[in-house]
Amino acid sequence: MPLRVESLVSRLSSRLSSLFLTPKATMPVAVGRSPSPSGERPAKKAKVEGVVADVAAAAAAAAAAAAPKAKGKSTDGPIPPSFPGLTTEEIVRRTEVEMALPIEIPRTYPYELNYRDKLVLAPMVRTGTLPTRLLSLYYGAGLVWSPEIVDKAIIGATRTVDPVTGVITYSKGQGPIFTTHPIEKPFLIFQIGSANPELAVEAAKVVEQDVAGVDLNCGCPKPFSTHSGMGAGLLSTPDLLLDILRALLRNINLPVSAKIRMLPEQEPTLLLAAKILRTGVSNLTVHCRTRSMRPNTVAMWDRLGDIVKLGARRNLPVICNGDGEGWANWDKIRSTTGATSVMLARSAEKNPSVFQPSGPECAIKVIIPQLLNIAEYTANPWGNTKFLLMQFKPSPAPISTLSKQERKEASEVMSRAKSAQDVVDKYGFELGQGKAFMDELEVRLKAHPEWNVWEARKVAEGEGVVVEAAVEEEEEASNGSTSEELDEEEAAANAAHPA
Ligand SMILES: Cc1cc2nc3c(=O)[nH]c(=O)nc-3n(C[C@H](O)[C@H](O)[C@H](O)COP(=O)(O)O)c2cc1C
Repeated sequence: MPLRVESLVSRLSSRLSSLFLTPKATMPVAVGRSPSPSGERPAKKAKVEGVVADVAAAAAAAAAAAAPKAKGKSTDGPIPPSFPGLTTEEIVRRTEVEMALPIEIPRTYPYELNYRDKLVLAPMVRTGTLPTRLLSLYYGAGLVWSPEIVDKAIIGATRTVDPVTGVITYSKGQGPIFTTHPIEKPFLIFQIGSANPELAVEAAKVVEQDVAGVDLNCGCPKPFSTHSGMGAGLLSTPDLLLDILRALLRNINLPVSAKIRMLPEQEPTLLLAAKILRTGVSNLTVHCRTRSMRPNTVAMWDRLGDIVKLGARRNLPVICNGDGEGWANWDKIRSTTGATSVMLARSAEKNPSVFQPSGPECAIKVIIPQLLNIAEYTANPWGNTKFLLMQFKPSPAPISTLSKQERKEASEVMSRAKSAQDVVDKYGFELGQGKAFMDELEVRLKAHPEWNVWEARKVAEGEGVVVEAAVEEEEEASNGSTSEELDEEEAAANAAHPA
């Protein structure tokens, strides 16, 4: 695919402003839908991609109450070792044995996924819903992961398609479990939470027709995941972890990948990686923290290089996850780890335009109007839309022209908003532009189905069109919280979003 980066980059900002900040008189009218005044569903206790909101809130409260004060402590008791009884020498020897053996289940697929040279959106329960994924793709994410969905939650779900918008919803009981749109299919990886090979396959089969790949969550450290052997629990049962991957490889006609955390010691981590890379997976993502590390512990990029080298020996990509901030540190991560792709979670949660080669857009003036229009068009539950708004962090100058006071106010507006209209009234933009966004997204995705964002950035730098955030002032960076308070906040947030 020829790279037409120059025209794309220069088109980005002009199209954005023309689409989302157009005067009312010239607004396009939404096609074929009759939304409520706010354009949103009422904020009832809707399920949001795998988690029932009130269950998540209860879990958050319980976990926050139980969260240890000291940094680095596990939230779920002693962690069983991955390879008990083996000496370090034996572990090193077995790693080499694994690397010498052939791939167990070699596969080719009708549609192969390219995991290299990309900034990708991390799986994030509650945050990684359809609007976030569409925004991330719009701004240059190369691949997007769905939030983790537990096997039993999606098994038995009913698939419905909105005839007007094309939005596909898998529902069970009271609400949607997983929502997608055909436009994201070539880039969408469905993440499964499982501790059972048969159930994992059954779950993957439910969504197989609507996604481009499946991923196994081997990193969620929260007790409600690990107690049933899922998430990071699988790091202590490598045979089960591998059996789930093998079952997916044998039965699902899509690329399979795994997302792990590092083990406390490097040698067992390498043995585990070698075993996973041998199964036949197409990619391994490594969150560069251990199961017991809190989110604010610095990610251990220095340990990733050895895993990337194992991947290279199999000609397999290894994606780096942990503390990625997009362009601000991609160079550093590449040179430290050798990984060519970085998976972004919290930086994309704060502003999904973090993927854009020419630098992020103003979260308040540009991203919020876009989010609310997409949410309206895709009928995203208001409870989730409001949650997404509240995760946005107002952009600093020169990305934003808002004053410090206005940025502070923006956060208050989001937390007080009871409907999309409340935000519209405050900032004076138009709803009804979701279809226009989808059309523009389609143009962009068609223009660069295999976009090398790394190269696009270099071109943008060469052309001098990059806009970077100024270094944030101390009080904004800390958001007024001490680091200990922040720990608690993050523990509660992560408890609500299991992973
Ligand atoms: C709100 C939230 C929800 C998350 N949900 C998941 C999930 O569903 N599956 C998963 O593997 N990791 C999940 N994670 C972990 C992230 O994918 C990522 O590994 C972690 O945040 C480290 O990346 P970062 O430093 O870029 O934030 C979640 C993280 C956050 C903040």
